[in-house]
Amino acid sequence: MTNNGVKIIELPKFTDPRGNLSFVEQLNNIPFEIKRTYWVYDVPGGEARGGHAFRENAEFIIALSGSFDVVVDDGKSKKKFILNRSYYGLYVPKGVWREMENFSTNSLAIILSSTCYNANDYIRDYDVYKKMKNDGKI
Ligand code: TYD
Repeated sequence: MTNNGVKIIELPKFTDPRGNLSFVEQLNNIPFEIKRTYWVYDVPGGEARGGHAFRENAEFIIALSGSFDVVVDDGKSKKKFILNRSYYGLYVPKGVWREMENFSTNSLAIILSSTCYNANDYIRDYDVYKKMKNDGKI
């Protein structure tokens, strides 16, 4: 797929014998204001989360611990990003279908979001998503 604005963003990393430190600042490291933070954890082996797209919400996904894959899809083709370090994350703009899968044991995904939770912002039907993409409605 063309990347549709999806990209890995590397975060500052302060390595230190006492332990490393990274951070993320809104409108500095990531191109949106953070309205919400949520996290996904205790995912049983083989499970997938987040098969959907958002009409408005953009997000930044970090594997704070462990690893998982984020598969992004623009309705024509897919691309897989492997997240396994806490000093970078995946920026996913609005309008991109994405799914998280292949979670390692004890992995922890944190998702910074540009909007507050709104069930109406979700597009959960892939065929509907594809049609909206084809029609230029998203
Ligand atoms: P959802 O985003 O639907 O997860 P998935 O796409 O992996 O199934 O979230 C699951 C439920 O959690 C959803 O029904 C409502 C609730 N939820 C909130 O209340 N606030 C939030 O910020 C999120 C992300 C989910």
